[in-house]
Amino acid sequence: MRAAVVQPSGALGLIDVPQPAPGPGQVLVEADVIGAGYVDVMLSRGEYRGIPGPGSVPGVEVVGRVQAAGPGAPGDLVGRRVLAMPALGGYAERVVVDVDRVLPVPQEADAAEAVALGVNALVAEIALHRAGAVAGEHVLVRGAGGGIGSLATQIASARGAEVTAVTSSAARGERLLELGATRIVDRTASTVPDQTYDVIVDTVAGPDMGRYLRLLRDNGRYVMCGGAGGAPGEDLLPTLLSEFHKSPTLVAFSLNSVTAAELLRSWQEITARWTEGLLTPVLHQRLALTDAEHALELLERGTPFGKVVLLPR
Ligand SMILES: NC(=O)c1ccc[n+]([C@@H]2O[C@H](COP(=O)([O-])OP(=O)(O)OC[C@H]3O[C@@H](n4cnc5c(N)ncnc54)[C@H](OP(=O)(O)O)[C@@H]3O)[C@@H](O)[C@H]2O)c1
Repeated sequence: MRAAVVQPSGALGLIDVPQPAPGPGQVLVEADVIGAGYVDVMLSRGEYRGIPGPGSVPGVEVVGRVQAAGPGAPGDLVGRRVLAMPALGGYAERVVVDVDRVLPVPQEADAAEAVALGVNALVAEIALHRAGAVAGEHVLVRGAGGGIGSLATQIASARGAEVTAVTSSAARGERLLELGATRIVDRTASTVPDQTYDVIVDTVAGPDMGRYLRLLRDNGRYVMCGGAGGAPGEDLLPTLLSEFHKSPTLVAFSLNSVTAAELLRSWQEITARWTEGLLTPVLHQRLALTDAEHALELLERGTPFGKVVLLPR
């Protein structure tokens, strides 16, 4: 089968590789659509969880059909349409994945839209759930024009929150207002907003994170669920100490450590809202798997609004 493998130069090359076989508790999924995300950029640079880039196949989300079940995996999954979230290896025609990282996709659903929700909607939904965001609260989303951010904006708004979206242009701000944001902050014009917030969903981190932490109100909750802007500055922990009197909660959250039960509960909420028309998958562009390197370039430049997806056929 064909897979996009990170070359020694850091660029992706589409090459023939042996088809993997599902091991115990795993299934083999044939991809219809593959999701591309910033995490794939980090992997190709060798900046993801200490995994060397060269020789690796990026890709942590795929929508497709289960082709085979390994020992101990439920045989009735074969033939089912699923969202599969492998640890890596998604930029390929087929991928093996643990059964507890497989979620059902409605038969009639568009596969590209399902991927556009996929990991991004799960991160956004669980981040807001863990933050306990409720109607009437003020929520700020950093990286709002990105895959996770555009869904966090929609989900927070659907929960009845007032949403401030931090983004990088007026055009992106317009799109975010359509998705439910009530206020836009252009990060290229003013570094941090001038309001305070009950909840901050941060997909960026980076040197400004401490300054955003200061924007929490009393008993505010800050969920750091991404690092598109790199590592936080050295002021982060001193800031937490100086803000101690507000009883802030600072949470880091990764889907990798979410239980199968929480994944399923969250995905059911997402797909229910989607099928009711209350949640819109935001698709930036569909590219062929042969153009995977171009997808990473787009993500690295931060130009997509929403999700870039790859088509293996
Ligand atoms: N928690 C998890 O389990 C999980 C799962 C998947 C991915 N992630 C991580 O979440 C982060 C976002 O992923 P994504 O797929 O949403 O990425 P994405 O689609 O590339 O969006 C990231 C957005 O962040 C903003 N941004 C980028 N660089 C920035 C900078 N230097 N300073 C300020 N803002 C910047 C841009 O939005 P604007 O132009 O609108 O500001 C960009 O669109 C990545 O670090 C990724 O690795 C976490």
